[in-house]
Amino acid sequence: MSKMKKLIAGNWKMNGSLAANEALLRELSQGLAIAPVCEVLVCVPAPYLAQISALKAGCAALSALELGAQDVSAQASGAYTGEVSAAMLKDMGCRYVIVGHSERRQYHFETDALVADKAKVALATGITPIVCVGETLAEREAGRTEEVVKRQLAAVIHANGHCISEIVVAYEPVWAIGTGKTASPEEAQAVHAVLRAQLKAATDKAERIRILYGGSMNAANAESLLTQPDIDGGLIGGASLKAPDFLKIIAAVQV
Ligand code: PGA
Repeated sequence: MSKMKKLIAGNWKMNGSLAANEALLRELSQGLAIAPVCEVLVCVPAPYLAQISALKAGCAALSALELGAQDVSAQASGAYTGEVSAAMLKDMGCRYVIVGHSERRQYHFETDALVADKAKVALATGITPIVCVGETLAEREAGRTEEVVKRQLAAVIHANGHCISEIVVAYEPVWAIGTGKTASPEEAQAVHAVLRAQLKAATDKAERIRILYGGSMNAANAESLLTQPDIDGGLIGGASLKAPDFLKIIAAVQV
């Protein structure tokens, strides 16, 4: 049983506007006025990092809310039009960055090697990468879940050596993302246990590495998932855009 502080992370994806973000943070600030037992993070679109940083700075109830990004360039700087570097994210106050989300792997053809490089550049800059792994429905039905998630994580372990103890892992079955279909707590726990064993083989600090579940986590199913022994938090898409739902998920966390 792992003992670190759980992490509830919102992934806003490509949603929001100056007005909508401000309204969402205002609602969240009311629910976060009493410090939650877990760490809370929002991973927002890059253009809004400055806005969220400023809103946090101006509101005591949001001081514990961590800021993260949804992607980072594997390059340090230079002629990479459209890319955002880890140093820039750090400048904007990011503590975390999601790497290897299945939408990046699927729509932007990100490979395991590229995801590993992104994790490496984040770690080198002092930003914690949230490394996403997960199988498609076809892979699950073919009995390949374990092989796929282990291959995805192995690339990151291989590229990052002893620094691996500083990452966060997110298990996100692709068939559960945005579909309303959630892995059952038992199905999720089984994969988390596989990932934990793989991390244990790589570092003696594997018990400290948080492994989040993501994929249609919501106010109704959060508690049953978050009480599994190897589920150390959640990466939440749709439900993180609705303050009451996100706050209910945060409230479902037990120490
Ligand atoms: P979802 O997204 O909660 O909307 O399924 C999760 C994610 O993609 O991180």
